[in-house]
Amino acid sequence: MKFTKNSANLSRYADTVFGIVAKARKDIAENGPEIATDATLGSLFDEDGKLVAYDSVFNHYDNIDHRVKAAYASSFTGNPSFRKSVYEWATQGADLHLNSSVIATPGGSGAVSTAITTFLDAGETLLYPNIGWESYALMAQENGINATSYNMFDGDAFDLRGLKEQIKDLMTKQERIVIAINDPCHNPTGYSMTVEEWKDLISFLNDCSKTHPCIVIDDIAYIDYSNDLAGSRNYMNTFNDITDNVLICIAFSCSKTVTSYGLRCGAAIVLGKDPEKVDEVEIVMEKKARATWSNIPNAAMENFTWVVNENKDAFLKEKQGYIDLMKKRSALFLKEAKECGLETYPYKEGFFVTLVMKDNDMRDKVHAALMDNHIYTIQVNLGIRVAVCSLPVNKVYGLAQKMKDIIDQVNA
Ligand SMILES: Cc1ncc(COP(=O)(O)O)c(C=O)c1O
Repeated sequence: MKFTKNSANLSRYADTVFGIVAKARKDIAENGPEIATDATLGSLFDEDGKLVAYDSVFNHYDNIDHRVKAAYASSFTGNPSFRKSVYEWATQGADLHLNSSVIATPGGSGAVSTAITTFLDAGETLLYPNIGWESYALMAQENGINATSYNMFDGDAFDLRGLKEQIKDLMTKQERIVIAINDPCHNPTGYSMTVEEWKDLISFLNDCSKTHPCIVIDDIAYIDYSNDLAGSRNYMNTFNDITDNVLICIAFSCSKTVTSYGLRCGAAIVLGKDPEKVDEVEIVMEKKARATWSNIPNAAMENFTWVVNENKDAFLKEKQGYIDLMKKRSALFLKEAKECGLETYPYKEGFFVTLVMKDNDMRDKVHAALMDNHIYTIQVNLGIRVAVCSLPVNKVYGLAQKMKDIIDQVNA
């Protein structure tokens, strides 16, 4: 007899991050930061190892009236000013001619999960990247939805051929197609699809949409750390070409954009040709919000709105300093990796660089051997993630060579 519902999955959540983070912290406490290297943390840290919380964001937040912080949001879909601002922010620079709706969500996680469960019935299948954020599959599975991964790379490019084959295969089994794509600044590889790759994908989906509704969940959690901010939304112009039977749901997260991971604020931005179809999605998402998290922290929405409208220049300047810093860290790591023959996935920008592992047995051996040598990283499918978002430049020097030597020893 069990008390949880019959379909409940009782295997404990396999945490691949917090346990390793704790080990890294213990090593640093015992042996000092000169000996131990912590490349685990997926949040932005400065050169002194402190979590970054932007002054341009939090000085204002601290001064928000207590009643604003205490109050409920004005609607389950989010405060109107936030909905407008987050749409403008997420799509800035793109010239979209689509109907849209915005639903405020608890972070990007809320946006992705509400999208998955809005578009798919239990028993249907979500397509998600084989190297990527593990939560996509968990969000699906917790709702009785299957999750099948697609191959991310063909050489140094996005494996569109593989994805197309999988879509075709899935079309023989279910009536609609839902794909999660984490682009740009993919976690954990730092890959960003080219505009051509997006064009190709949209045109393929347009074809598929003659018989099957197609939905792309575009998870843009890291977009505001693109190296080319001005051009970072150019690819969204390819969305203008969608047919009536294709829908885009952008999952935006304030967590990384304004360094407010714990404030739980984000948005699902639904884009479609047909206003009625977009409205239907809003109806479902609004009820889902009411039925789960109810409403989003009022002050988090108000503060985001203030930052991107009233304090935009100071905020962009502060954030740019960290984009430049991450560029320095990643460029150094990649240069040294290339020099010593350490293989990485095709990094372009963003929080993480990932080493290529030919299989997960090898990955586990390498990961353990790295820890024996005081180097802490995160295991991902077919890879070892190095968090350049939290690794000071002085810890990057020589790291690639050390990792290469350890991998060679494991392989010997
Ligand atoms: C790829 C990806 N998407 C979405 C998120 C959502 O983050 P949050 O729910 O904090 O906005 C994360 C956070 O780590 C992520 O890595």
